[in-house]
Amino acid sequence: MNLSVHAMETVADEDHAEFERAVLAGLGAAPRAIPAKFLYDARGSALFDAICDLPEYYLTRSEAAILRTAAPEIAALAASTRTLVEFGSGSSVKTRLLLDALRGLRGYAPIDVSREHLDTSAQRLRRDYPRLVVDPICADYMALESLARIARPALGFFPGSTIGNLTPEEARSFLRRARRLLGDDGALVVGVDTKKDTAALHAAYNDSAGVTAAFTLNLLRRMNRELDANFDLSAFSHEASYDAARGRIEIYFRSRRPQTVTVAGRTFTFAEGERVHTEYSYKYGAAEFEALVDGTGFEPWRTWTDPDRLFAVHHLVSIRS
Ligand code: TRP
Repeated sequence: MNLSVHAMETVADEDHAEFERAVLAGLGAAPRAIPAKFLYDARGSALFDAICDLPEYYLTRSEAAILRTAAPEIAALAASTRTLVEFGSGSSVKTRLLLDALRGLRGYAPIDVSREHLDTSAQRLRRDYPRLVVDPICADYMALESLARIARPALGFFPGSTIGNLTPEEARSFLRRARRLLGDDGALVVGVDTKKDTAALHAAYNDSAGVTAAFTLNLLRRMNRELDANFDLSAFSHEASYDAARGRIEIYFRSRRPQTVTVAGRTFTFAEGERVHTEYSYKYGAAEFEALVDGTGFEPWRTWTDPDRLFAVHHLVSIRS
């Protein structure tokens, strides 16, 4: 028992050190940026769940509707799948649509950086799917080296347009890595937000209730709590805008006035209007996404969309090596 408590503390120390390193490096860089994965502490993950329910945030509803229709076909394509592996699983709500359809499934391996979230959703799934072996992996899916303990064939699941939060180069590197992890007989179901009119995209990341703003500013709150920082949350604002040429939403927090902030004993000066980048959300047309997949070891097999083409779900299969 002592040993596992000790191991958990070591992991927590490492997580803390990694957060501190990333923040100090990100605030010291020009332009300033903090990696998006740090948005997802326990409170951030809960706020993100609230984003998914917002009227303006069409992504989650569109994807769930597509999955509801496509699940039988996905299950038929993945008939021999023994393990479902989810990259960035969050609260695993959409996963149930696949778990209900994949009859022969033995195991589910959710991968997420948010420990609390991972454990709570694993418990719920074990209760609701008593025959399923739920084996959560607390890790950054971009840093994962192996999936040695899973039964194959494995189906990867990467919903929520999380792939859009990677740059296209990172997305290709993720796909190559996922291809290696899932193996020769693997496949990947990936949810991708599509290009559409700017107003709809803008509204999805600037909701009227201010939940997205609270989600972005929660990063400042997390730095205050974990890194002994003194950000005044009312002196910063959330900013999200669509760059149509680049096909991406860009998310920042912006300093409302000139100010100085201390983080982990270091001082940072912000000019009025100065921004710190937190996240991109790239949008892809179907052909663009297929071009992105090309050369990663996966082959696009089937694509589903909703009637308004607000969102797309792509089923990719491994090209045998
Ligand atoms: N994968 C989600 C998306 O790109 C992540 C997301 C939604 C997000 N809203 C956000 C990230 C607001 C940062 C801020 O839509």
